[in-house]
Amino acid sequence: MLLEDRLTGYFEWFHRHPELSYEEYGTTARIKEILLEEGIEVLPYELETGLVAVVRGGKPGPVQALRCDIDGLPIREETGLPYASLCEGKMHACGHDFHIVAGIGCAVLLEERKQELAGTVKLVFQPAEESSLGALKILEAGVMEDVDRVWGIHADPTNEAGTLGIREGYVTAAVDRFVVTVKGVGCHGAHPDDGIDPVPVAAAIVQAFQTIVSRNVNAFHPALVSVTRLEAGNTWNVIPETAVLEGTVRTMDRQDRILFEKRIREIAENTARAYGAEAKAEWIAGPPATCNDGGMVKESMRTAQACGFLVVPEECSMGGDDFSFYEEKVPGCYIKVGTGKGKLIHQPGFMVDKKVILPTAEYLAELLGAKAN
Ligand code: NI
Repeated sequence: MLLEDRLTGYFEWFHRHPELSYEEYGTTARIKEILLEEGIEVLPYELETGLVAVVRGGKPGPVQALRCDIDGLPIREETGLPYASLCEGKMHACGHDFHIVAGIGCAVLLEERKQELAGTVKLVFQPAEESSLGALKILEAGVMEDVDRVWGIHADPTNEAGTLGIREGYVTAAVDRFVVTVKGVGCHGAHPDDGIDPVPVAAAIVQAFQTIVSRNVNAFHPALVSVTRLEAGNTWNVIPETAVLEGTVRTMDRQDRILFEKRIREIAENTARAYGAEAKAEWIAGPPATCNDGGMVKESMRTAQACGFLVVPEECSMGGDDFSFYEEKVPGCYIKVGTGKGKLIHQPGFMVDKKVILPTAEYLAELLGAKAN
């Protein structure tokens, strides 16, 4: 069977069988089975889910890694595709099924020409990207220790098939989370003077957080804060004792991250104090911003043209990708692959145009097979 037909068949299987972050047991087993059938070496790293394959070139050269994330999302599919999800309430709605088969295809093509290949290529099938922390499992297993540089791709339904969105510098934001707990004194709703109402305190904190963006951050730096959960009380005539607010901060600049953490704490604690209440702010750091290496960007653009892809301008996203954890160790480049315009990622109608699978695999094989500087 032709490679294109095999890859399409694999893609449909993965699309039918999505698994959530850290639960990718069936996906991992199937990737391993396919790789072994295709004659690709699988490395014995200790990983609960996810796996790493390798193609060893016949000539000396760098060790490069290609990250392909493998998890699905808790979304009920509404595409009507003949190969739609068979797993109720779960869906490959971020294109990670496409990333898997593009990675497999790349491995097969590199294996075919490995005598000519300079260096080593590690295919990293990473679990739990949607949790924002799956990359840490790969790093903990030591997969990146001998790697010189890392490449990543992502499906992009805002661009046509045949296009690649490549951008130098920042591509995705740092993803941090905060939880603020305001403690007042509960009392009767008719006698607020008997207690300390945490609700207006929480409201004041929500308002004041926006001044971090408008008054504290350099106006040329992309940054935002969103309070996405605000909870207090359970009935209409009792002033509650506590209010909780939770949300996310997105930044590109490292110093801005530090600034936000400090200001979130200061504003929460001092605003609460002004009202006679107390507040505790918890900061939960996620992945840093993804920043594409200039040299790798140039190479990826050159290869794109040679492979017949149209390079389109790529905008920065305030979304995140844990690919950035790898870039704390080695230079990296994260490329958006146009998968046909349609419903956006994480939407129940999201689809990948299957005709992009083989060209993407060929492009990646060309890119990773190319001599590094
Ligand atoms: Ni994704």
